[in-house]
Amino acid sequence: MASYSFTLNNKSVTVDAEPDMPLLWVIRDLIGLKGTKFGCGIAQCGACTVHLGGAAVRSCGLPIAAITGQKITTIEGLKGDVKGELVQQAWIEESVPQCGYCQSGQIMSAVALLHRTPKPTDGDIDIAMQGNICRCGCYDRIRKAIHRAASAAGHTTPATLHKPLTHA
Ligand code: FES
Ligand code: FES
Repeated sequence: MASYSFTLNNKSVTVDAEPDMPLLWVIRDLIGLKGTKFGCGIAQCGACTVHLGGAAVRSCGLPIAAITGQKITTIEGLKGDVKGELVQQAWIEESVPQCGYCQSGQIMSAVALLHRTPKPTDGDIDIAMQGNICRCGCYDRIRKAIHRAASAAGHTTPATLHKPLTHA
């Protein structure tokens, strides 16, 4: 057992844990943020996806000892991130989720994609999202929502993000 410090959703946190405790357990059981889901536990389904320094990673496969001093973002940390909020809005507008279980991980992968590729092609989306399994088969709506968020991001800034839409 040792103390590990890292940045979680822009706040410094320190936890006492065994060095091989997966980040997913730390986030859910030690810190109490339940938005990141446990699916397979063997880095195969994507349900547990978080951002490590902005890149999508599987938190079930990351021991806490490996992330000391690093910056982690979970779904709860997307507030204030323009692309993070636009992706969530697009998810609602396209009615993406069915059972919803995989969706936190899907959204985290989609946001990481849009940060590095603002206007992704269908091929870009398929490659970026291939590690996120949806047992309900929502893949077409996921792709549409990512295109919708990419399009909206072209004319949205932090200042306009929460302004109500006006119609001519
Ligand atoms: S729970 Fe981590 S990839 Fe499935
Ligand atoms: S919405 Fe059910 S697993 Fe993806």
